[in-house]
Amino acid sequence: MITERMQKELNDQVRKEFYSAYLYLSIGAYFTSINLEGFANWFRIQAQEERDHAMMFFDYINRVGGRVQLGAIDAPDFDFESIEQALRLTLEHEQLVTRSIYNIVDVAIEEKDHKTNQFLQWFVNEQTEEEASADANLKKVQLVGNDGRGILMLDGEMAQRVYTPPTAAV
Ligand code: FEO
Repeated sequence: MITERMQKELNDQVRKEFYSAYLYLSIGAYFTSINLEGFANWFRIQAQEERDHAMMFFDYINRVGGRVQLGAIDAPDFDFESIEQALRLTLEHEQLVTRSIYNIVDVAIEEKDHKTNQFLQWFVNEQTEEEASADANLKKVQLVGNDGRGILMLDGEMAQRVYTPPTAAV
């Protein structure tokens, strides 16, 4: 069983994860519009992972006898100044998600909700990966700058990413 307060926090995280999926689909569409299909592939897969995260929270709420309440998802940005700006936005967004996860952990600790705290630890670890990959992408783009060949090389690298479903959180 979870408290009303915890249920509200978890439902809000479902919404935030779906928003993340929406944002990354939008960034992916931007990359398609500038013919960088490798970057588009990376973001499309990232969006799939975000839907997985949303459903992990969704399933957890159900599993502990809570009630899923889906909130409205904001429209994401759809136009970006540059490749670098889109990648910086991605990193900033992941940092925001990390703070959100940490906040729910704080609530779980306050409420002595050890089960939810345990469930959230998967996401604490995942956010380390999420921030690291967003940071690496940004730094690589900053490294090549406006060099077209460098961007195309990175695009080829991003095209290699394949979707792998997450290993389930407990
Ligand atoms: Fe669901 Fe990108 O963290």
